[in-house]
Amino acid sequence: MARSAGDDWDIVTSVGYTALAVCAARALDAALDPPLANDEFAAGFVAAAGEPNLAAAVTNTDLSSAAAFNAQWVGVRTRFFDDFFTDAGAPQAVILAAGLDCRAYRLAWPAGSTVFEVDQPRVIEFKHRVLEQRGAVPTTGRVAIAVDLREDWAAALSAAGFDPGQPTAWALEGLLPYLPGAAQDALFEKLHELSAIGSHIAAELGPDPGELKEWADSFPTIDQLSTQPPIAELWYDDPRVDTKDWLGQRGWSVTGVDLVAKAANDYGRPLEGLPPAFDRLMRAKFFTATRTH
Ligand SMILES: C[S@@+](CC[C@H](N)C(=O)[O-])C[C@H]1O[C@@H](n2cnc3c(N)ncnc32)[C@H](O)[C@@H]1O
Repeated sequence: MARSAGDDWDIVTSVGYTALAVCAARALDAALDPPLANDEFAAGFVAAAGEPNLAAAVTNTDLSSAAAFNAQWVGVRTRFFDDFFTDAGAPQAVILAAGLDCRAYRLAWPAGSTVFEVDQPRVIEFKHRVLEQRGAVPTTGRVAIAVDLREDWAAALSAAGFDPGQPTAWALEGLLPYLPGAAQDALFEKLHELSAIGSHIAAELGPDPGELKEWADSFPTIDQLSTQPPIAELWYDDPRVDTKDWLGQRGWSVTGVDLVAKAANDYGRPLEGLPPAFDRLMRAKFFTATRTH
């Protein structure tokens, strides 16, 4: 395990690299028909980071490459979370582990709303620098919070102006496998405490104990570019509570989302020929929840 308690990273190392890799996938999604991510900022981040393998990957037109495979499924995931925020219409949104997510610049948000983006300090610094150089202007209020999600992120969020009295739309996209079980459980306790009635969650769960090896083995690799993050070294699959049940017992109405079906039926992008573990990821690991009481 290459991870340790309190480890940190920049945008080209360890878990930080995964933010850049999904960003590269969103850049490549633009070449697919139909594109789903519509992220005009993604290619600029990859160029600015200067990581040679991903820089080469985003110019690679070989649609059988691992990078293009990632573009297929990451585009679907991006669209799902985009639609979640648009449909939620909440006065505040919190993107936990935002990475290079530019929804605060890409989406149409309700007037007067605020998007809080939480991630590690060096990831946020890089993102800020690139967006500032570009002169990018957010489409809503945006507050970036540099804190580790294994620490007291809720205090940092409150100190940054988050209002627990208002409904919130929370996104946990590509985050939970990077947290040890205890940190994931603590995170949902805090999230629940901070959620007014009418709040929404969209989340992607990590592997159940024992699933990690099969998942890692099923992620394709391309030798000449090696763009795939080493998830076997970066993810945790230690036990944690059943998040969907836990939320269901606390006043949340929880709905599982089959992203393979959604991709084919709603997004015009059938995800055919997925490796079995990957198929399960897309079908069984995503859910939305709304706090009803
Ligand atoms: C796979 S990327 C996903 C980024 C973004 N959600 C997206 O889909 O583009 C994982 C992100 O989780 C962040 N992350 C993971 N563990 C974290 C922690 N303990 N504290 C803060 N950020 C964390 C990383 O810095 C990285 O930006």
